Amino acid sequence: MNTHELVDTARQMLANGKGLLAMDESTPTCNERFAAVGIEPTEAARRGWRELIITTPGLAESIGGVILYDETIYQRCTDGRPFVQVLTDAGIVVGIKVDTGAKALAGHNGEKITEGLDGLRERLQGYAALGARFAKWRAVISMGAGLPSPACITANAHALARYAALCQEVGLVPVVEPEVLMSGDHSLQRCAEVSALVLHEVFEQLHVQDVLLEGMVLKPSMLLPGLNCSHQDNIDEVADTTVTALLRAVPAAVAGIAFLSGGQSAELATARLNAMNRRFKSRLPWALTFSFARAIQQAALDIWRGEPGKVKQAQRALQHRATCNRAARLGDYSAAMENLAIPISGV
Ligand code: G3H
Repeated sequence: MNTHELVDTARQMLANGKGLLAMDESTPTCNERFAAVGIEPTEAARRGWRELIITTPGLAESIGGVILYDETIYQRCTDGRPFVQVLTDAGIVVGIKVDTGAKALAGHNGEKITEGLDGLRERLQGYAALGARFAKWRAVISMGAGLPSPACITANAHALARYAALCQEVGLVPVVEPEVLMSGDHSLQRCAEVSALVLHEVFEQLHVQDVLLEGMVLKPSMLLPGLNCSHQDNIDEVADTTVTALLRAVPAAVAGIAFLSGGQSAELATARLNAMNRRFKSRLPWALTFSFARAIQQAALDIWRGEPGKVKQAQRALQHRATCNRAARLGDYSAAMENLAIPISGV
């Protein structure tokens, strides 16, 4: 393991107030999002959408790393340049989703275990040869009556740690994503209890597998009341609960924490990240930033809908969300930013 290289890569991904952009939807998930806005589920449409994203002018001002999917890492722009080259030339670090999906956990109704460890070393070596410098693995934890079970938490934390160790052996920075889902009617307090259990188990397993904390990024969910909970806590309450839990469970040596958006509205995800950075600015030992997919992409996808004439307008929307999230990482975002027209050079 080249520890210097891992630490440098992790720093580069999160440098200068930037965050990560997740565009690693599996083909079925990407097709589902396309279907919702009337786009044909073809390879050509997926390639076109991903080209629109990575050629957004000014993207590298806010985005330090992009997470690709297996299909996408091999694709090229219309002018023939490989996606990986376009991103690398822009100074954006290339990452790749490497889990093969969450499957039913045997004996535990309603719970899932993420698969993909078999043959992972060889797949990671292949992606590194293509130019990837970091990877991502997502575990999902469902909440509900009697959920999550200790079996689900332990099995997923173990898989995350084995994935992370393999990544570091190959020279890739692991992005470790234990997502506590928003579905359900649980309270913010219950989410805090579960998140604490999950985070403690994840860091215990990372320790057992000798994962270098300075060479990894944690990608957690924000601590939120369930979508169906009758009491929805305000932005500051969410920020305080989330950061308090992270300060208690995440070692200071970790390079950074980059949240998933998980189905929150784009504006709310940004406002909550901003409140965390504003309220805890001087007390955070790690970079606290974003690794959003929907909360960066959705507004642009709603505009594009597969129409060539809408590319520039969609790119403006994408750049706007990226810019707002960079401001939130610095604690400098305000709702007034949502009304600003963002000029894009060359668009
Ligand atoms: O694994 C999930 C993605 O990387 C983040 O997606 O921001 O839409 O939750 P999201």
